[in-house]
Amino acid sequence: MRHLLSTGDLSRDEATLVLDTAAELAQVSGRSVKKLPTLRGRTVVNLFYEDSTRTRTSFELAAKRLSADVINFSAKGSSVSKGESLKDTALTLQAMGADGVVVRHPASGAAHRLAGWVDGAVLNAGDGTHEHPTQALLDAYTMRARTGRVEGLRVAVVGDVLHSRVARSNVLLLHTLGAEVTLVAPPTLMPVSVHTWPCAVSYDLDAVLPKTDVVMLLRVQAERMQNAFFPTAREYSRRYGLDRDRLARLPDHAIVMHPGPMVRGMEISAEVADSARSTISEQVANGVSVRMAALYLLLGGS
Ligand code: CP
Repeated sequence: MRHLLSTGDLSRDEATLVLDTAAELAQVSGRSVKKLPTLRGRTVVNLFYEDSTRTRTSFELAAKRLSADVINFSAKGSSVSKGESLKDTALTLQAMGADGVVVRHPASGAAHRLAGWVDGAVLNAGDGTHEHPTQALLDAYTMRARTGRVEGLRVAVVGDVLHSRVARSNVLLLHTLGAEVTLVAPPTLMPVSVHTWPCAVSYDLDAVLPKTDVVMLLRVQAERMQNAFFPTAREYSRRYGLDRDRLARLPDHAIVMHPGPMVRGMEISAEVADSARSTISEQVANGVSVRMAALYLLLGGS
């Protein structure tokens, strides 16, 4: 594995290696060894052309816990405003000695393009509506930590699938790991190509919930709506929001996930988000270990 661009590139063994490495690193970090010398002398660039709270900070924390030097680059306030391209920006940062580039960009395919321009490892931190592989890996890690397995789990991914890079990365990874995924969305927020994806499709959340071990809610991405029909918040939450009544339709053992950022009262009620069945805070914490594992494996830690 030279880059981490898509979960579709990972074999079952490679994906399991990332999860197992993250578990080992979490154990070591949990035993008061906050910082490992593994990537001392390496430089990681966080190249963010889109806003982020969780992904950027956890990649920074992960790199620092492995003793790497970190450069945080945000398009806002940089020479991008003067017309500098992604390629020239990346080559400039590479000239400063970047061994790994973590990139988030609004254009689908940007991470793949970058991988062809720079010498170091490229980690896709979200490209347009395409993929967000480390999110899917931390989601799978969280499922495994909570339920003891991924294989055979029935996972419902619910919401704005049309604009979601998280949905695609999860479908590809969970399929590889042997889970059964059902995508649930209003018809206008389901991609036309979804029938080529390795998953089931439903438009009826209430019918799916009783047969679900994991329900993952997605935010409706109003900022990416162009021609898509955008249901009103009230209409959306009535048909597809997870509230107390819908939570009761799930089997008792089922867990509730959300990659964040969430809109309380729309795709998830505050009561459900804060309930014992919610793994939202665990997902954020696990993100640091999973990103440490990805950096460790790609940047040649030994
Ligand atoms: N889940 C996720 O990607 O969150 P951020 O946009 O805050 O990084």
